Amino acid sequence: MSTQPQTPAASAYQQLRGHLHYLRLEAAAEALPAALDHAKAHQFGHTALLEHLLGIEVTATQTRRQQSRLRFAAFPAPWRLEDFDFDAQPSVDRALVQELATLRFIDEHANVLLIGPPGVGKTHLALALGHLAVDAGYRVCYVTAADLVARCHRAAIEGRWATTMRSLATPRLLIIDELGYLPLQAEGAASLFQVIAQRYLKGSIALTTNRGVASWGQIFDDPMVAAAMLDRLLHRSTVLQIDGESYRMRAHRARVEALRKGVTPTNPRSAANRGSGLRLALKPQVDGLRPGKNPDSA
Ligand SMILES: Nc1ncnc2c1ncn2[C@@H]1O[C@H](COP(=O)(O)OP(=O)(O)OP(=O)(O)O)[C@@H](O)[C@H]1O
Ligand SMILES: [Mg+2]
Repeated sequence: MSTQPQTPAASAYQQLRGHLHYLRLEAAAEALPAALDHAKAHQFGHTALLEHLLGIEVTATQTRRQQSRLRFAAFPAPWRLEDFDFDAQPSVDRALVQELATLRFIDEHANVLLIGPPGVGKTHLALALGHLAVDAGYRVCYVTAADLVARCHRAAIEGRWATTMRSLATPRLLIIDELGYLPLQAEGAASLFQVIAQRYLKGSIALTTNRGVASWGQIFDDPMVAAAMLDRLLHRSTVLQIDGESYRMRAHRARVEALRKGVTPTNPRSAANRGSGLRLALKPQVDGLRPGKNPDSA
């Protein structure tokens, strides 16, 4: 049985597909037949066809990288700024949050401290900034303070200290959540200090804590370590201090109220909007603050 000789056009097509695969432009390779048909139907020139084909590859690469950054960030929840109910927190300075949302603080290697009691939205806002940063192409990493300390402890035992420190130093934004709920022993405090010190003026930290800065001495055994940490964190930082009732409690009350009235529970936001009695104080940009001078919510 004899094989038909290939026409020059067919062999050029096969070669082009081969080149695209070889260069790992898989999305473009896959889209090639449809792109050629499209170009023919719309009488595209060579430039327009190439732009169309490479545009497909660029979009696919951007999506893949965004997904990879999102996996790396290890966010515990998909909370975004659009989901944050500012009306439930009437004294939040939206303009300041919107300013943070421009992510200029990341370019300036500045920090964000979110301070307040349980359930007021500290993690929500930190994750919202994290999601924006991932979308904008920054490498972000989320970790709780307790996990960070445990990770460093394991790394020291297993001889992976340098690698672990590098992995905590390189993301452009490191979110450290829930500092203060668990006391930190000297070793844990030392690990956290190292992470903060090596990121100082090089990468941003968004830190959430239930402790006002004046009571940080109680989180750590050593008040000097606490002071040194705060010194680095607060130099070039925005402090969001949130006081008020837990949003979780609002949601809970909304459900109970709905059940009592015999109606299906609605979005807790609508319930939260009714008479909040919430006080939320937002501190403006703090620059060059020293621990002793800082306002304390605790
Ligand atoms: N203003 C808000 N608008 C919408 N949802 C909110 C708001 N504040 C809090 N929430 C929601 O309430 C829940 C608790 O918020 P979050 O976890 O951010 O609180 P937190 O201050 O970090 O509390 P904790 O100190 O206990 O960790 C989350 O589901 C969050 O999405
Ligand atoms: Mg939280």
